[in-house]
Amino acid sequence: MCGIVGFTGTAPAVPILLAGLAKLEYRGYDSAGVAVSDAGGITVIKAGGKLANLTALVEKHGGIPSACGLGHTRWATHGAPTDVNAHPHLSSSGRIAVVHNGIIENYQELKERLIAEGFSFVSQTDTEVIANLIDYHYAGDLAGAVAAALSELTGSYAVGVLSVDAPGEIVAARKDSPLVVAMMEGGAAMASDIPALLGYTRDFYSVERGEIAVLTRSGVSFLGPGREPLTKVAFHVDWDAESASKGGADTFMIKEIFEQPRALRDTISTKIKGGEIVFPEFAPSAGEIRAIDRVFVVACGSAAHAGIVGKSAIETLARVPVEVELASEFRYKNPIITDRSLVVAISQSGTTADTREAQSYAKSKGARTLAVINVVGSQIAREADSVIYTNAGPEIAVATTKAYSCQLAVMYMLAVYLGRKLGTIGDEYNRRLIAALTALPDQIETALGTDAFAKELAGRYSAATDVFFIGRGADYAAGLEASLKLKEISYIHSEAYAAGELKHGTLALIERGTPVVAVAVCEKLFDKLMSNIKEVRARFGEVIGVTWRGNRRMDDECAAVFEVPVTEPVFTPSLTIIPLQLFAYYIAAAKGLDIDKPRNLAKSVTVE
Ligand code: BG6
Repeated sequence: MCGIVGFTGTAPAVPILLAGLAKLEYRGYDSAGVAVSDAGGITVIKAGGKLANLTALVEKHGGIPSACGLGHTRWATHGAPTDVNAHPHLSSSGRIAVVHNGIIENYQELKERLIAEGFSFVSQTDTEVIANLIDYHYAGDLAGAVAAALSELTGSYAVGVLSVDAPGEIVAARKDSPLVVAMMEGGAAMASDIPALLGYTRDFYSVERGEIAVLTRSGVSFLGPGREPLTKVAFHVDWDAESASKGGADTFMIKEIFEQPRALRDTISTKIKGGEIVFPEFAPSAGEIRAIDRVFVVACGSAAHAGIVGKSAIETLARVPVEVELASEFRYKNPIITDRSLVVAISQSGTTADTREAQSYAKSKGARTLAVINVVGSQIAREADSVIYTNAGPEIAVATTKAYSCQLAVMYMLAVYLGRKLGTIGDEYNRRLIAALTALPDQIETALGTDAFAKELAGRYSAATDVFFIGRGADYAAGLEASLKLKEISYIHSEAYAAGELKHGTLALIERGTPVVAVAVCEKLFDKLMSNIKEVRARFGEVIGVTWRGNRRMDDECAAVFEVPVTEPVFTPSLTIIPLQLFAYYIAAAKGLDIDKPRNLAKSVTVE
């Protein structure tokens, strides 16, 4: 998720671009750049690291009078966050500049075709392909060239384009990534998101999927997907800047909970090619995979819970033994690591000290290391032998939701990948698993439909002092994460138990009215779980159920039941966690707590 901005008018563009990027830093902040055009051509200034590095470079460059330009603040998905990979990107002729937010899935094949056509490339990004593809199609009409180029792309994008051959003109277009356009004093502007331009106007045009906006200093015109002229009505916003960066949501956490379908689509779609799982930066030979006799997962917090779900998926689908170790414990317990061990470090930030040290220890013992990371180019990613990236985009809320869901998806895909290479997954089962993976984002969208019910239910439990989560198999793993979510943001004591374990101790804590959440989508263990629910009810505990849509067998014993869609058994934690994220969220909201920044916690703990 990156931030793009563009301006064309009668005022110098650079100050407007830098101000806009400053308001978009929450969308990505590992590198930034601007491109401005005038009679002399296109000037590009860009820098790795924080936006301040770019601002310093611009100041060093001295005044730039150009009144037409593009800006970008990056969240790396292809290529490390370096100056060369920072946007804007130029076509090899230097005549076209592009800023892009999204992921182009077919950029490699387009790149090869463009190289054969004589174009050259300097970066590792997918965006540079867009610039050359527009140049390839350019024949005097910039909007036409953009439309032709975009029609060849698969993936998600919002782009801003300028050309030395179309002075004072900016063309903007989108597919899945967000884009707004506005008229403002002195010209016209475009941006990924409203905050970038809120200082200049409160009236915006939304650019819909497949539409094109042509910005000139005198106005904005729109073209439909068939290049037909469109008339649009601006919408007005009353948001302040802070709520605008949350897209109008109350908190980053609820915004990120609802971003999960898009994050999963970006994470899954880039790793399925021709009906098989393909990891761009992890491609061991079949012999290397067969040599693996044990997988260790090392992680902390929610990432460790993703590891527990991953263990279940890998052992079930690939039949490879998996041990999940808390990173802070791993290197002090003399783990039995050999050169046949694969150690998987899962981390959203890629900077968690415990996880970094665990990975480093595993390498020192001769293990092969694979990192599952959200922040491209982060330390754990750099130090691993191989990396599989989640594509959740920047996650701002301390309590993870979308990154956790993307970690689950990567662990499922790793299990399928290993199973295919080891021959434990046949073609028919693979087709079923790939179809189920592809359907997950839409099913998560459906599960988000429990939002109103979770909000209404949460009000009844916000005064609880203890909440227990029980489940069997993969449902237990989902309960671990649900329990941590509740603790992190509502400060209510909570524990998750393998349901069969409840009677061996914890049942002593169940009193009249004690809330117990029973996660019950594992059909083959459902009857046993129902016995555990009856044990709780016999002590007058209050049970909240989570089960598959249409299952009525919990109704008599439960005060309330969340229903989620049906998927492959190993993938169910991706769906059961959704109502429980919302349940935890609304309990914390009812308590009026600072949900994005819970007390005592940090987004990434870079000390041991
Ligand atoms: C905690 C975060 O500090 O660290 C959790 O609050 C996270 O959300 C855990 O799961 C591990 O962090 P990371 O960045 O290594 O996934």
